[in-house]
Amino acid sequence: MYGLGDVRFFDRLAPLYDLAMPPANGEALGAGLDHATRSIDRLLDVGGGSGRAAAALSGPEIIVVDASHEMLSRARDARGLSAVGGDAGRLPFRDASVDAITVVDAFHHLPDHDAALREAARVLAPGGVIVIREFDPTHPLGRGLVAAEHAVGMASRFRSPSELSDDLADAGLDPRIVDRGFGYTVAGVTEEP
Ligand SMILES: C[S@@+](CC[C@H](N)C(=O)[O-])C[C@H]1O[C@@H](n2cnc3c(N)ncnc32)[C@H](O)[C@@H]1O
Repeated sequence: MYGLGDVRFFDRLAPLYDLAMPPANGEALGAGLDHATRSIDRLLDVGGGSGRAAAALSGPEIIVVDASHEMLSRARDARGLSAVGGDAGRLPFRDASVDAITVVDAFHHLPDHDAALREAARVLAPGGVIVIREFDPTHPLGRGLVAAEHAVGMASRFRSPSELSDDLADAGLDPRIVDRGFGYTVAGVTEEP
């Protein structure tokens, strides 16, 4: 449907995905979400897959958005989450209609980073925040992950914390590096009116 190579991988991986993955880092996501200057009542988990990251969050209404119908059906059926099929580069939500977005272990799989960040900036209300958890390709473990994903044929494109901060700024978001390491967290805040 979206012509995205990595999405087909996740359609096939969906039955095993949650068995293979550790729980998401809810503490790091919470630290990123704390950068919002408005209250977070409605959150999109973009590239949210089976809802692993959404399961680590509590409080707001959470909608999992993903281009893999197999991953989404697990979010819906196994976790009872709200799930919407959609491409991160063309989100099916109105302008300024959500308070926060999370993108966990998914940004490097998105085929068009600029479109995804533009869409995030469009759907976030003023004072809202996007929190991205990614892997640093300049970290020794990150170099191994890049090689492993490419070896299995994924089209992953990884960004370092400073590169991702620059991307967020280019999309009109105020970037903050929340934590660093092999797995790192970057937040981007939308301007108040
Ligand atoms: C490694 S999984 C991460 C899933 C979840 N965020 C987690 O932390 O477990 C990457 C997800 O990105 C999704 N994805 C890839 N390209 C996408 C796109 N263009 N739009 C929306 N989701 C996409 C895949 O279908 C997959 O579910």
